Amino acid sequence: MTSSDMEYLTIALPKGKLFKPSADLLAKIGYTADGLSENSRKLVITNEAEKIRFIITKTADLPTYVEYGAADIGVIGKDVLLEEGKDVYELLDLKFGYCRMVVAVPQALKQEKLSDYAHMRVATKYPHIAERFFHSMGIQTEIIKLNGSIELAPMVGLAEIIVDIVETGRTLKENQLVEIAQINHATARFIANRVSFKMKFGRISKMVEDLKVLMESEAAK
Ligand code: PRP
Repeated sequence: MTSSDMEYLTIALPKGKLFKPSADLLAKIGYTADGLSENSRKLVITNEAEKIRFIITKTADLPTYVEYGAADIGVIGKDVLLEEGKDVYELLDLKFGYCRMVVAVPQALKQEKLSDYAHMRVATKYPHIAERFFHSMGIQTEIIKLNGSIELAPMVGLAEIIVDIVETGRTLKENQLVEIAQINHATARFIANRVSFKMKFGRISKMVEDLKVLMESEAAK
């Protein structure tokens, strides 16, 4: 680690649904930077006065940046942590971004029991979670990894089943899909690189404390 790495705290934020609530929460405890926006073409945004550096990553890549120490800390969904299985410290459940990971099928393909879906194809952004789930149920399936718009797959015959996250349920409904099982649920987590947590313990642990105090005061409102 270079001295300039020690001087700055690098915070990774994911593009997508968690970006705004994450950036807003960190701003409330004093961690922000001019021009920090999901739509920024600039991917590294620095606050020189506070020695803070933000990096904006693709959601699925965020744990990799933190695991390798390219970012000291970050905010990411538990769903992504479970899928990516990276070696990072999970320091705090930030409680926002609640979603459920479910198995869904087109209404017309609904079967009586889960085992009736054996040998069918499953489209998902979460191949490890899907594989583990069907394996634990003793059901053999073919997992097809996609990068988004998963609901499209059953409509065009790419797969019969999807494993995806559900927040409001609107996307499933609008695509005539019905939920047949829930695998787990997730919220946003505050994570840290293992070495950074030791080397920058003072700064990172103060952030965790400040976040806890803020969350308690907001919950009491
Ligand atoms: C997520 C998820 C569903 C949708 C669920 O996709 O994959 O498609 O949100 O939300 P809802 O239950 O509130 O409708 P996201 O918007 O992250 O985009 P993606 O499909 O391109 O990954």
